[in-house]
Amino acid sequence: MQKSARKRLLMAVSILVVVFGLAVGLGVGLTQKHSHNSSATATATPTPTSSPSNSTSSAKVWQPKNGTTWNIQLLKPLTSPSKGDFDVWDIDLFDNTQETISSLKNQSAKVICYFSAGSSEDWRPDYSSFASSDLGNGLDGWPGENWLNLSSPNVRKTMEKRLDLAHSKGCDGVDPDNVDGYDNDNGLSLTQQDSIEYMQFLATAAHQRGMAIGLKNAGALISSLLDAVQWSVNEQCV
Ligand SMILES: *[C@@H]1O[C@H](CO)[C@@H](O)[C@H](O)[C@H]1NC(C)=O
Ligand SMILES: *[C@@H]1O[C@H](CO)[C@@H](O)[C@H](O)[C@H]1NC(C)=O
Ligand SMILES: *[C@@H]1O[C@H](CO)[C@@H](O)[C@H](O)[C@H]1NC(C)=O
Ligand SMILES: *[C@@H]1O[C@H](CO)[C@@H](O)[C@H](O)[C@H]1NC(C)=O
Ligand SMILES: *[C@@H]1O[C@H](CO)[C@@H](O)[C@H](O)[C@H]1NC(C)=O
Repeated sequence: MQKSARKRLLMAVSILVVVFGLAVGLGVGLTQKHSHNSSATATATPTPTSSPSNSTSSAKVWQPKNGTTWNIQLLKPLTSPSKGDFDVWDIDLFDNTQETISSLKNQSAKVICYFSAGSSEDWRPDYSSFASSDLGNGLDGWPGENWLNLSSPNVRKTMEKRLDLAHSKGCDGVDPDNVDGYDNDNGLSLTQQDSIEYMQFLATAAHQRGMAIGLKNAGALISSLLDAVQWSVNEQCV
C-alpha cells in the first residue's frame, strides 16, 4: 500500500494534529465512530520545536487552539449539517454546498475544505484544466487519479482557482491532500523540495484569500513548513 494516506482509506484510527505558530503541539486521539466518519479531540502532546511564526502572511487567518474537536467527513457530502460536538468540520470542497458551509459556520463551527492538491481526480469538474504533461503515474489502488507535477504553472493556476472556490464558499481553511508525491512512485521525479515549495505557494495563496491551511501527512516536511501552515494532520492506518 502506498504511504500516502488517502481520504477514502477510512481505516485511519490515529491522527496527529500539530498546531503551528504558537509553539504548541496538539496530539489528537482519533476515535473511529463510523466507517465514513472520523472524529478527534486535541489533547496535549510534547511541543514541537518551533521558531516564532513569520506572521506576515498568516497573521489574520484562523488557527485551531488546543482542545479543538475535529470531525473529518470526506466520503459523502453532508446533507443536514449539524455541528454536533465538533468545533471543526473537514469536508470535501467540491461535494459540499456553500449553504452547508454557511450552516455549519452559523452554528459556530469552523469549516476546513478538502481537495486533492497533488493528484488529479478525473471526476472533478475542473479536471480538463490539467494538461496531460502535468500528470505522472497513477496512484496505486486509486483509479482515475494521477500524481501531478507540483511545479507546473498550469497545476498551480488550477489550485488557485480551487482556493477561489473555497473562499467563495466561505471555507475558514483548506486541507490540500496528496502533497507527498515524493514518497510514492510518482513518475515525475518529485522531491521533498518540490513539496515544500508547493506548500509554501499554497499557503501564501490561501492566506491571501483569508483562509488557513494545514499540512496533510508529509511529516518529513513539518520542520520546513512550520511558518507556513496552521496545523498538521497525520493519518495512519491500522
Ligand atoms: C459521525 O459519527 C457520529 C458518532 O457516531 C454521529 O453522531 C454523526 O452523526 C456522524 N456524522 C456523520 C456526518 O455521519
Ligand atoms: C492542551 O490542553 C490539555 C487539556 O486541556 C492540557 O492538559 C494541556 O496542558 C494543553 N497543552 C498545551 C500545550 O497547552
Ligand atoms: C516572512 O514572510 C515574508 C513573505 O513570505 C518574507 O518576505 C519574509 O522574508 C519572511 N520573514 C522572515 C523573518 O522569515
Ligand atoms: C447563516 O447566517 C447568515 C446571517 O444571518 C444568513 O444570511 C445565512 O442564510 C445563514 N445560512 C444558513 C445556511 O442558514
Ligand atoms: C514539471 O513542471 C516544470 C515547470 O513547468 C518543468 O520544468 C518540469 O520539466 C516538469 N516535470 C516533468 C517531469 O515534466
